[in-house]
Amino acid sequence: MSTTKDESPILRYDPKTFGYSVIADAPEVSQNHKSGRVYFSEEVMEREIEEIFMKEWLLVGRAEEVEKAGDYFTHDVGDEPVVVTREKSGNVQAFANVCRHRGVKVAWGEGSTKYFSCPYHGWVYDTSGNLVDAQYLEKSKNFDKKNCSLPRIRTELWEGFIFINFDEEADPLMHSLEAWDFPKTYEPYQMGRLKLANKFTMEIPSNWKFLNENLTDIYHIAVLHAATFGPAQPLEGYRYKTFDGGYHGRFTGGTLVPEGKSLFGPIPWLPEELHSGGFSSHLPPNVAWFPRFDYVSIGTNWPTGPDTSVSITYQLFPEEHFSQPDFKEKAQQYVDFYKAFMDEDTDMIQALQKGMKSRFYKPGPVSPFEAGVMGTIKHAVDDLGHE
Ligand code: FES
Ligand SMILES: [Fe+2]
Repeated sequence: MSTTKDESPILRYDPKTFGYSVIADAPEVSQNHKSGRVYFSEEVMEREIEEIFMKEWLLVGRAEEVEKAGDYFTHDVGDEPVVVTREKSGNVQAFANVCRHRGVKVAWGEGSTKYFSCPYHGWVYDTSGNLVDAQYLEKSKNFDKKNCSLPRIRTELWEGFIFINFDEEADPLMHSLEAWDFPKTYEPYQMGRLKLANKFTMEIPSNWKFLNENLTDIYHIAVLHAATFGPAQPLEGYRYKTFDGGYHGRFTGGTLVPEGKSLFGPIPWLPEELHSGGFSSHLPPNVAWFPRFDYVSIGTNWPTGPDTSVSITYQLFPEEHFSQPDFKEKAQQYVDFYKAFMDEDTDMIQALQKGMKSRFYKPGPVSPFEAGVMGTIKHAVDDLGHE
């Protein structure tokens, strides 16, 4: 059940109580959709791209992925190719990755460069998107390099995370983050001090919303994940707080490695009352947030079609751990464990996708442990008026 700001004061981090409550009553079944169509319709996905992904702040990476001037990476949002660069000035900036000549992608993959050379006819752009060379066009009428720069896309950073927004009119990033209480909730983690150790991509055979819904679903943990992290993360230990479109959940218990036992110990600057378990949060529209006492895992979920999606996971550790001689091997265990329980999830996400085509499907009653799921459904389905 999502709450409005008036009904429920925004959560403030309180180390003793976490400011959270046990949800005693089951959330209402608030889904307005009457069939599974919203999970496989091309038309629904097109509206989601326009009304969600082209309007909201989107987390696309970490600043350390473009550490030095000239570093870049590419990322597609629906049909919009984007390149994120570290400009000469040191600024992190996103651009439309669409050549101003005939529209081919100018930057491909990731790397470090002074110039992007379009692979089709060789137009050359610098890492600030300025066109610097276009062969045989110098004397052409009506040609002015200055009118052929790559369009800049709004870019803001928070705690080392890079966010972009295609909407020129959107409120600043901090407006959304504060409305959903991310800065206060995660202040003790000082995530800007963490460094990216692992980044990996998984292709998931389902609608992107099922990834969000699965990663906010606490109800399934003890059942589906009995062989992985379920025993280290008991449902009874959960306290949580919903907001319009997402939630914050605080729990005690282990971390995301076998038996929940950390290979590194707590993040050195984390207060003692956070030396157990962690949080699960959902940042609209598509970020699963899993800080644990010893590391932080974030996952972004992207539609690639009505029934296919991509999940990108970022795993961050304190910089001081990187110099340990066995850091790589230990960090790899966090990747392996994450992939092991995501395999369990993917089987079920795929089964959900299949279930949506049944003429008998309609949304059922939900448990108190699915309040976060209801938040994501409200944001991505109900608020768009889908039935
Ligand atoms: S499309 Fe890029 S140079 Fe022609
Ligand atoms: Fe799961």
